[in-house]
Amino acid sequence: MRKAIIAGNWKMNNTASEGVALVKAIAPLVTEATCDVVVCVPAIDIPAVSEALKGTNIRLGAENVHFAEKGAYTGEISAAMLKEYGVEYVIIGHSERRQYFGETDETVNKRTLTALTAGLTPIVCVGETLEERETGKTEAVLHRQLEEGLKGVEDITKLVIAYEPVWAIGTGKTATAAQANETIGYIRKTLGELFCEKCAAKVRIQYGGSMNAGNCKELMAQEEIDGGLIGGASLKAPDFSAIVNYDK
Ligand code: PGA
Repeated sequence: MRKAIIAGNWKMNNTASEGVALVKAIAPLVTEATCDVVVCVPAIDIPAVSEALKGTNIRLGAENVHFAEKGAYTGEISAAMLKEYGVEYVIIGHSERRQYFGETDETVNKRTLTALTAGLTPIVCVGETLEERETGKTEAVLHRQLEEGLKGVEDITKLVIAYEPVWAIGTGKTATAAQANETIGYIRKTLGELFCEKCAAKVRIQYGGSMNAGNCKELMAQEEIDGGLIGGASLKAPDFSAIVNYDK
């Protein structure tokens, strides 16, 4: 019922020319994809990668968006700037932005509302740290991130949620498929309580955190998991395409 979505998150990797070479290598390997395929790329790569993606089934995403429409925000990038290059998705509230760049539930909320108004599909990231998991706070943290981060959203089916346990990102430690499924089930239940159950059943929720060609099949087989947000493994065409083709 929910179409899977596999998105790469390049983070601060790949210059524009490297990015173009990467998508040119990926494109012929994913033509048979049954899921939505997205690459979220550094802002400065967007013009070149956008051009290189023409005629492919790969959609373009950004890694952040500012919440103001325009104005005196030196160094920031607006939704309109992204849209002009055909960007359709935007990652919001990645744990690295929360950890290193002062992102809060409140700024996540503002960015999410701005992205939705502009017609971009937000990929809103939530997830607990290792300490939060070990002290039994996972559900409370996720509940807070969802309640505060999605406040005022009218139609939650227009966004994608990425569940990324912080302790699994770039560490090689994946949540077990059962753990990821259970936690994503909790996220869906919470969305049902905060918004509506029917809408929650339609929201696509990705898993992210050391997902790779080797573990993607098992993760994607879980009932609650509708896709992946892929960091490290999205930087190599064979690895990323293998994840996209998880059902082949
Ligand atoms: P990873 O990153 O796949 O390298 O763990 C995932 C992410 O941070 O989105």
